[in-house]
Amino acid sequence: MNRPAEPLLAETIECRVNGRTVRLAVAPGRRLSDVLREDLGLAGTKVGCEAGDCGACTVLLDGEQVCACLVPVVQTAGRSVTTVEADDPLLARLRASFVALGAAQCGICTPGMLMAAADTLRRHPRPTEAQVLDGIGGVLCRCTGYRKIVEAVLAAARDGESAVQAPARGAAVGSRLPRLDARAKVEGSARFGADDAPADALWLRVIRSPHAAAAFEFGDLDAFVAHWGLAGYVTAADIPANRFAIFPDLRDQPALAEGRVRFRGEAVLVLAGDRAALEAVDERDVPVVWRPQRAVLTAAEALAPGAPVLHERWPDNVLCRGRVVRGDVDRAVAQAAIRLDAELTTSYVEHAYIEPEAGYAVWSNEAGRARVTVFACTQTPYMDRDEIAHMFALAPEQVRIVPSAVGGGFGGKLDISIQPLLVAAARKFGRAARIVYTRPESMASTTKRHPAEMRATLALGADGSLLAYDFHGDFNTGAYASWGPTVANRVPIHAAGPYRVAHVRATTRAVFTNNSIGGAFRGFGVPQSTLLCERLIDEAAERLGEDPLEFRWRHALRAGDTTATGQRLEASVGLRACLDALRPAWREARARCEAFNRAAPPFALADRASTDPHRRYAHAKRRGAGIACMWYGIGNTVIANPSSIKVGLRRDGRVMLYNGAVDIGQGTYTILPQILADALGVPVALIDQVYADTDLTLDAGKSSASRQTFVSGNATKLAGEALRRKLLELAGARAEDRLALDGGALIVGDKRIDLAHLPADDNGDVAVATGHFNPPTVPLDENGQGVPYATYGFAAQFAEVEVDVELGTVRLLAIHAAHDVGRAINPSQVEGQIHGGIAQGIGMALMEEYHAGRTDNLHDYLIPTAGDVPPITVHLIEDPEPLGPYGAKGVGEPALIATAPAIFNAIHHACGVRPPHAPCTPDRLRAWLKNL
Ligand code: FES
Ligand code: FES
Repeated sequence: MNRPAEPLLAETIECRVNGRTVRLAVAPGRRLSDVLREDLGLAGTKVGCEAGDCGACTVLLDGEQVCACLVPVVQTAGRSVTTVEADDPLLARLRASFVALGAAQCGICTPGMLMAAADTLRRHPRPTEAQVLDGIGGVLCRCTGYRKIVEAVLAAARDGESAVQAPARGAAVGSRLPRLDARAKVEGSARFGADDAPADALWLRVIRSPHAAAAFEFGDLDAFVAHWGLAGYVTAADIPANRFAIFPDLRDQPALAEGRVRFRGEAVLVLAGDRAALEAVDERDVPVVWRPQRAVLTAAEALAPGAPVLHERWPDNVLCRGRVVRGDVDRAVAQAAIRLDAELTTSYVEHAYIEPEAGYAVWSNEAGRARVTVFACTQTPYMDRDEIAHMFALAPEQVRIVPSAVGGGFGGKLDISIQPLLVAAARKFGRAARIVYTRPESMASTTKRHPAEMRATLALGADGSLLAYDFHGDFNTGAYASWGPTVANRVPIHAAGPYRVAHVRATTRAVFTNNSIGGAFRGFGVPQSTLLCERLIDEAAERLGEDPLEFRWRHALRAGDTTATGQRLEASVGLRACLDALRPAWREARARCEAFNRAAPPFALADRASTDPHRRYAHAKRRGAGIACMWYGIGNTVIANPSSIKVGLRRDGRVMLYNGAVDIGQGTYTILPQILADALGVPVALIDQVYADTDLTLDAGKSSASRQTFVSGNATKLAGEALRRKLLELAGARAEDRLALDGGALIVGDKRIDLAHLPADDNGDVAVATGHFNPPTVPLDENGQGVPYATYGFAAQFAEVEVDVELGTVRLLAIHAAHDVGRAINPSQVEGQIHGGIAQGIGMALMEEYHAGRTDNLHDYLIPTAGDVPPITVHLIEDPEPLGPYGAKGVGEPALIATAPAIFNAIHHACGVRPPHAPCTPDRLRAWLKNL
């Protein structure tokens, strides 16, 4: 075995941090980011990669932005470091502007972004937009799409023009109320998973498989940990029921593999010890013998005869199938005047939230009964609680999940990751245990968007009517089930798009492979299938010589229509209104692009061997505008989808919202108070919150499937109305009377009730009410007929692009997005969701492609930077949903779905290529252009 490394000798240095002189006795090579966070307690500086790629750790060194993770602390000797916690007038202005304009969503990038913005404004007190984009270009944000950040920096430069009035009583819904949790995010005091842990917590380090498929066995682990001076190790044997899943009947995934691994990056062993000792461990010394096996990496490989079987329970490697059939597709296709066929494939897409998984667990005994508390980033505390209880043979009430602030999720933090490892270690060692995933292990071990292999046929009548859509898609669900069933079931429902199609057949398979686990990612497969559907719809319009927007408008679903599942859409079907909103800008963009192309010289691809210099370098640009529509069922597909919310009135006259709907950046800690304020009839300023905590809040379900505004929003509204009724009863008033809270008094008419004298429960509430909502659905039959969702979001987006036909690059010039959201509870936040979804759609269309072992970092895995996101124009269409709280639906996933297809259609308009694969990278586009 290698020898444990000798620690570097500490050196004392002196520098100024946020204006204070500090003396640090530290190893000179330590990262500034670690010293700030661990030694000085300045956890506002975040760490997303430790490699200079994400910019989350940006601080100012002598006034200039640097990545603190790349700065050895010795380099700060005699210099000045400024972090987000600094008391500084320029930072204060930026903070106020970020809060007012909604520039912070999850908030994990916000400290770094603020520091980069401060640097920018010091250099350019009155910056142009280009200077702002340049100045913040080194900091990645996965949530906002950057547009509101740019707006906020420009507003801060103008000084003080960004104040937003607090809404008055009864006017909270529909107001641009700044996020109620934003202040902590801009001050750096929000506590993410890596920001808190008991001081004596053991650190954990996970050993993972370097093979996609292998058998393995351990050697002498006791000798190994003794040699390296560790506290111990955890294996599968330390977890009583070592299997978990999203669906309890599918529990197939071990927290730690048991003698066999099924994907590269799968966890096999956890080492525990102090941080330095763990970091010193040379992984090559871990006593494990690997016996690699044949791996299947794509759905096609896994389905081929003779392919290795991943799980005995599924001998054909097919986890599940999805199916929606309506009408007689074969007959309709046979009778069609026009038949269009296409195939399309997509890649793995990584969530790339800027916060890698992190948290801690404490195992204790309370009155002789085991009790475990897990503080970690998660989108689904109640599911985590139930799975941990199952795995460790506990009752659910013995498990407490306290979600940290969540630095982005997008579906990736719906699956369990670090939680069982933390609990197993805390249980085994009788000490708190903490972990912070590195960026590579976060990317290697967690779920991804399913790669899809799809084919479809669109059949048209002579009059352009949509006769039939015939679709099949195989979705690579990777090594374990995760959300594979959800993807397989959701896609067929949406496959034919938001159009009047007479006959539909849509089938799917979720296929096991030895690749990364396909999980939940904003849209559950619908973004992939929409790429194919919108390509065919576009092609149909082209074939018929119709304008692509008008063709979609002609066939758009509308209220009273019946969908492919036989569901009658009663109301809130605002797709035509979306297209109407886009029409003027669309016509201008199409005309502009066509004029540009007419004026451009004819192009032919360069021929490096040509003796004609014009043929050797044929730089030519072409522009195009492309449009796409989408629809999306809000909430879970058919399965129960309830949410419960509790509210209480305090003796001091303040209202407490027990908000179990985890805010992962999408805004539930602001949206639900807005709904409660109007339901109860009080100003939002009177509302306090207990954030999600399985001990303190009711089960509001997962923050996924675009459900929280619709489902938990309804539960909140019902709770608010119930509390209002109780208070009016207390005052002996009528249901229609107005109530007010004034200090410690409830006032109704001329009645004043002193709350201080009323009996209170253990939480200090003198009156409590709950609301419960479960969207009405009807199970699907064997042909997928039923009511899978209570309501749908609709949208249309168009993109304007410039294609460099020589280089194959695509530059986005503008995106216009019209979304029917039912009612925008908070227009700023809805716009923010749309911007962020569009940015992720851009990534999916043009650059994002995960390959295990090759792109496990934010250097090789590209996500859009500030410079990649063009100006975005948002049109909010409010076609109220009768079942929604104040008419609201959801927008989290709809925001992304139409973007990539719109870009693909714009590429076609520009240069004639219909990309058969996503992402459409420059090398691929150039190759496709050559084959035109
Ligand atoms: S943590 Fe320093 S750049 Fe990512
Ligand atoms: S707000 Fe920027 S990463 Fe979430």
